[in-house]
Amino acid sequence: MDVLTVDHPLAKARLTVMRDARTDNAVFRAALHELTVMLIYEAMREAPVRTERIHTPVARTEGYWLAKPPLLVPVLRAGLGMADQAHKLIPEAQMGFVGLARNEETLEPTPYMESLPADLAGRPVFVLDPMLATGGSMEYTIRLLTGRGATDVTAVCALAAPEGIKHLSEAKLPVRLVTASIDERLNDSGYIVPGLGDAGDRQYGAV
Ligand code: PRP
Ligand code: URA
Repeated sequence: MDVLTVDHPLAKARLTVMRDARTDNAVFRAALHELTVMLIYEAMREAPVRTERIHTPVARTEGYWLAKPPLLVPVLRAGLGMADQAHKLIPEAQMGFVGLARNEETLEPTPYMESLPADLAGRPVFVLDPMLATGGSMEYTIRLLTGRGATDVTAVCALAAPEGIKHLSEAKLPVRLVTASIDERLNDSGYIVPGLGDAGDRQYGAV
């Protein structure tokens, strides 16, 4: 699996705010918004463009439009904190939604909602989820997408664990990963170490 680590100093600084246990919910959400802009910007670097001759007020020149804006798919809850910023950066994009909650005992994803276009053939898809831990939630989401014909999926994650990357690589899914950090490992409870804790709770409070 191709992995792009966005280790720009600005990304590292926002991630540090998110990691810091002293950061409150509002500041955590703001830092995730800002980090999302950087991750999406890099994820779109090779996006295909359509050219068109346009007129500026001064002269004719080449103009560029996105040829294939991706479908954005935030994974609820935590991925919701990336959705608006990604959409602001790619206003042409459409959005689908997947709702999953990881079972704290088994670490398996429990699905509770999905709202996706029926046909994703030929459409790039960006899955937005701050955390790639065991990789179970991301694998579940990608299988929903490939079941609808998607063959070009990008997982956009603030943090990734080596275990999750290995899981996705071995599943041989058509996915690349864009992340700000590959952390050390998972702990016995399935949390990323050093990580940032529970990304849903850090944004919205514990449920
Ligand atoms: C978190 C996170 C991912 C998942 C990652 O969500 O946002 O979706 O865990 O873990 P995995 O790689 O081991 O599957 P969680 O299930 O805690 O739900 P939430 O977003 O509602 O907090
Ligand atoms: N989900 C989270 O929110 N945090 C982790 O560290 C692992 C899974």
